[in-house]
Amino acid sequence: MKILVTSALPYANGDVHFGQLAGAYLPADIYVKYHRLKGSDIIYICGSDEHGVPITLAAAKQNVSPKAIIDRYHDRIKKCFKDFGIEFDNYSRTSLPLHRKTSQDFFLKVYQKGYIKPQTTRQLYCPKCKMFLADRYVEGTCPHCDSEGARGDQCEACGRWIEPLDLIEPKCKTCGAVPEVRETRHWFFALSQFQEPLRKWLETKHDWKPNVKRFCEGWFKTGLRDRSITRDLSWGVPVPLDEAQGKVMYVWFDAPIGYISSTKEWAERIGKPNRWKEYWLDSDTRLVHFIGKDNIVFHAMVWPAMLMAHGDWVLPTDIPANEFLNIEGRKFSTSRNRAAWLPEYLEEFPPDPLRYALAVNLPENRDVDFAWRDFHARNNNELADVLGNFVNRVAVFLQKNYRGKVPDVTADDGASYEVLKAIEEAPARIGKLIDSFRIKDAAREVMTLPALGNRYFDRQAPWRSLKEDRGECDRTIATCVRLMSALEVLLYPFLPFTSRKIGKMLGLGKRSWDDAANPEVPGQLGHPEILFQKLDESFIDIQVAKLGDKASADRKPRRVESGERKAEGGGMITFDDFKKLELRTAKITSAEMVAGTEKLVKMMIDIGGEERQIVAGIGKAYKPEELVGRVIVVVMNLAPAKIRGVESNGMLLAAVDGDNVSLVTVDRSVPPGSEVS
Ligand code: 2FM
Ligand code: ZN
Repeated sequence: MKILVTSALPYANGDVHFGQLAGAYLPADIYVKYHRLKGSDIIYICGSDEHGVPITLAAAKQNVSPKAIIDRYHDRIKKCFKDFGIEFDNYSRTSLPLHRKTSQDFFLKVYQKGYIKPQTTRQLYCPKCKMFLADRYVEGTCPHCDSEGARGDQCEACGRWIEPLDLIEPKCKTCGAVPEVRETRHWFFALSQFQEPLRKWLETKHDWKPNVKRFCEGWFKTGLRDRSITRDLSWGVPVPLDEAQGKVMYVWFDAPIGYISSTKEWAERIGKPNRWKEYWLDSDTRLVHFIGKDNIVFHAMVWPAMLMAHGDWVLPTDIPANEFLNIEGRKFSTSRNRAAWLPEYLEEFPPDPLRYALAVNLPENRDVDFAWRDFHARNNNELADVLGNFVNRVAVFLQKNYRGKVPDVTADDGASYEVLKAIEEAPARIGKLIDSFRIKDAAREVMTLPALGNRYFDRQAPWRSLKEDRGECDRTIATCVRLMSALEVLLYPFLPFTSRKIGKMLGLGKRSWDDAANPEVPGQLGHPEILFQKLDESFIDIQVAKLGDKASADRKPRRVESGERKAEGGGMITFDDFKKLELRTAKITSAEMVAGTEKLVKMMIDIGGEERQIVAGIGKAYKPEELVGRVIVVVMNLAPAKIRGVESNGMLLAAVDGDNVSLVTVDRSVPPGSEVS
């Protein structure tokens, strides 16, 4: 079986940020590195997406040509990925002649099969800029979810693909003018004809992630429409039809074809120009597209339909789309510089701590937050204090007491059993998680091994047995080195640079993933090397301060005005922090609306003899009379606040989904005032 892995081609209009890494690149790289160690026949393909409005808009903004933009960012992006340890087999670019030809051939084949047809259509046209406003040249309100600032190609808020004409109150992005509607001729891809084949095909994908399946099912309900795949622009792949002079392909038509052209480039580069066909033609190929959720529609619907229409190539086997990474409790926004940028990070810090912090917190099933405080804690408390400490104490002990010579004993005593068993089971268990795209769980699982190593070291206390029972000390140290040896292999997909450092100490040469179950132990260990540098507490504020637009209004409005607050920064809290909260059950004894408001309810609550007044924004979900008698959960020790002039002395807990608010109550009968912990 062959495996062809791709990550979404990033637009060459800016640097790579952490959100992109967590979405499409790091998980793919971990998956690929694991499979390379497994000995799978796998290639990892990517490249820069160099067409489309994102590029021309960036060029206009910086007053340079599109070519200048893509040349600058292609090189920067490529270098950054490499420095971060992302190892593509090929990183191409869609401005290459090879890509142009591949896309034009693809277009022509689908055209000749009758799936691309011209239509005279009405399009938005800016009378001031004198151009048709395709894609991101126009913004307005999303017709699906009413979000403002939806672009003419896609709404960021709901992820739907938008036809510019459907936008509510459209405006020219360049000059702000209200566009007029004019007629032009475009070529449409017959997406509607693929609704049934796509639906049937998706039905067979039982193990796909639910977010991807849900998204597609939503589309089927709305019904697939034919889509214009040409544009009146001068930047892009020219449409290969005489009657389409001056038109280029829509970037989302040519970009995924970039996966094929990049594979071709790879094959040429390794001197086997036909090799690419083996991956794209062989029905046994697993084609896996790693993407962020904003790309689901294109990869799970449009691209498979294009491949079906073309007919020659394999269809995607899996599309493990990730959700979004927020930063410090708010959405990434590259336009407002509310982002953390990879090149900036790499100027100061090594790649592995970031690879780790992202890997153990990947947005696999829901949006997650990246907080510098969390990063700091992961670096200091997990990487340095657990992994770094384990490797260092073993290496230093061995150096000091054995002059680096590893005792030649096979430890199979009861004391080392737990460690040896964990080593034996780890490769299969972690491998299974990676194969089912549970990369986050896999990363967490690997890190249980050095933690186990530290516990074992402490329990065995080799510094004592060194004097009292040399045989036991030998067994302990040999077991620890064995674990180090397994770690070199198992850490590699996640922390390749650290794995190499451990490898340098061990000097064992290349090993496979499965070898880690029964890992080789060297005769001699090299000099101990410090694996991680701890970061000072001040680091956190410095990084947070770099985020532009700190006080901007892009934080989502609070939905329940009951005085509750998220932990500032949205980062991790310690158990001690949590213990500061005093949570208790309380019975609502009376409730009434706060005059002049639609949502605020004033309640008296009984907390085991103590009576208090609280105010909460639950009036749309509950009538005051429904509330009386309920036993709820309140935060007792929140500083009193005045809400619309009414004192609130505590805060109730509720689950909130827009206006759908549900009080947190208790499952069994307990007296008011019971502690909740
Ligand atoms: O969203 C993006 O950044 C696009 N450039 C992804 C393209 S993926 C593929 F189809 F090329
Ligand atoms: Zn929308």
